[in-house]
Amino acid sequence: MAMIKVQKGTKDILPEDMPVWHFMEEKAKEIFTKYGAKEIRTPIFEATELFARGVGDTTDIVNKEMYTFEKSERSLTLRPENTAGVVRSFIENGMHRLSAPVKLWYKGPMFRYERPQAGRQRQFHQVGVEVFGIKQPAADAEVILMAVNYLKSLGLNDLNVEINSLGCPECREVFKTKLKQVLKPYLAELCPDCQARYEKNPLRLLDCKVPECREIYAKPEVQDIIQSDFICEDCANHFNELKGYLNALGIKYSINKLLVRGLDYYNRTVFEITSNNLGSQNAVCGGGRYDSLVKNLGGEDVPAIGFAMGMERLAVLLGQKNDEKLTAYVVCNDMPEAVKLAEELRSNGISAEFDLTNKKFVKQLEKASKTAKYAVILGEDEMKSGNVTLKNLETSEQNTLNRKEAINRLK
Ligand code: HAM
Repeated sequence: MAMIKVQKGTKDILPEDMPVWHFMEEKAKEIFTKYGAKEIRTPIFEATELFARGVGDTTDIVNKEMYTFEKSERSLTLRPENTAGVVRSFIENGMHRLSAPVKLWYKGPMFRYERPQAGRQRQFHQVGVEVFGIKQPAADAEVILMAVNYLKSLGLNDLNVEINSLGCPECREVFKTKLKQVLKPYLAELCPDCQARYEKNPLRLLDCKVPECREIYAKPEVQDIIQSDFICEDCANHFNELKGYLNALGIKYSINKLLVRGLDYYNRTVFEITSNNLGSQNAVCGGGRYDSLVKNLGGEDVPAIGFAMGMERLAVLLGQKNDEKLTAYVVCNDMPEAVKLAEELRSNGISAEFDLTNKKFVKQLEKASKTAKYAVILGEDEMKSGNVTLKNLETSEQNTLNRKEAINRLK
């Protein structure tokens, strides 16, 4: 019969990959908790309208990439990202009444119908943080610090932090008008996507990867507009304060005026963290401030800022698969005794297995050396004396000890 295969753009995370995934998840909990963040888990599907209004109906994500389906005449969508879902939950659960800042973190699968390539999947996983209730730039700095320190805790130091300010809706309008003016003569030469963006979402023009478009955007008169300091005084002050904090914290960053992000909810600070070791899909982290989103989704006027990281990309950087070994393999010809000993080890927090198939002693030892770090041998002599023999399977060193001592060693 024909074999059914995993869907394009999706991947199994296999047992041998798990140590790296557990490491990323445990570090997330450890680090984000230290900053006072609490974990939140929201549903994987939401009302389609949440993303249309939240992420923005001029974005690629909403227009081309959503997994949308109908059930009982409702339009539902597998979440393409989690900021909108967390904001929905924040509003629905009245979290604006909690004392600010409200810091939430999450991990889980996201779904985007994109063209799969290295570092880009249709089901992928993010770990992210959202901080609500603080409009001051100190929150921007703290959120960037959380991202950088999480990556450091994974042992990833060789990364680039890029920041930009998109200004507020008012000053951005002026910028958009100027940008459209200078690009008007080239409109017919732009790619079809850019022609649509020109009308709907001119800021996204800067993000185009088509070489012909990039040539146009590199022209001096266009660069003059792009590189200009278009943001208003309040937005500029916010950005300058953020830079001051980052300098004081010793976080190295560069300013990238082309950094506009692919989601509509941002204002002022946006940032990305990229790696030089990932090829074209090199962003491991993206985030920014979204001061109007809570209100736009029907909540109070609550400013917010956050980020999300692609866990598959982090896993690539963390590399090396390692199939972690069991701590102990019980070698014993008496099944009930073997079960008892294995359970005793497990109840002391030691991972343990024993032979389920009545194999000979020698075969059990072979199996132990393949799967475990220690063999815990319970032969006839040991059973009589109440001891066990502990064999280190890397060094072959062995000692006969009483059970308590053996357990303490294994711990
Ligand atoms: P995003 O930039 O769309 O932002 O995604 C964040 C990260 O998720 C990316 O930097 C990348 O590492 C990973 N990622 C995105 N799409 C894929 C894909 N198709 N395959 C593999 N990895 C991918 C957001 O999602 C915002 N919600 C971040 C945010 C939180 N902004 C404020 N708060």
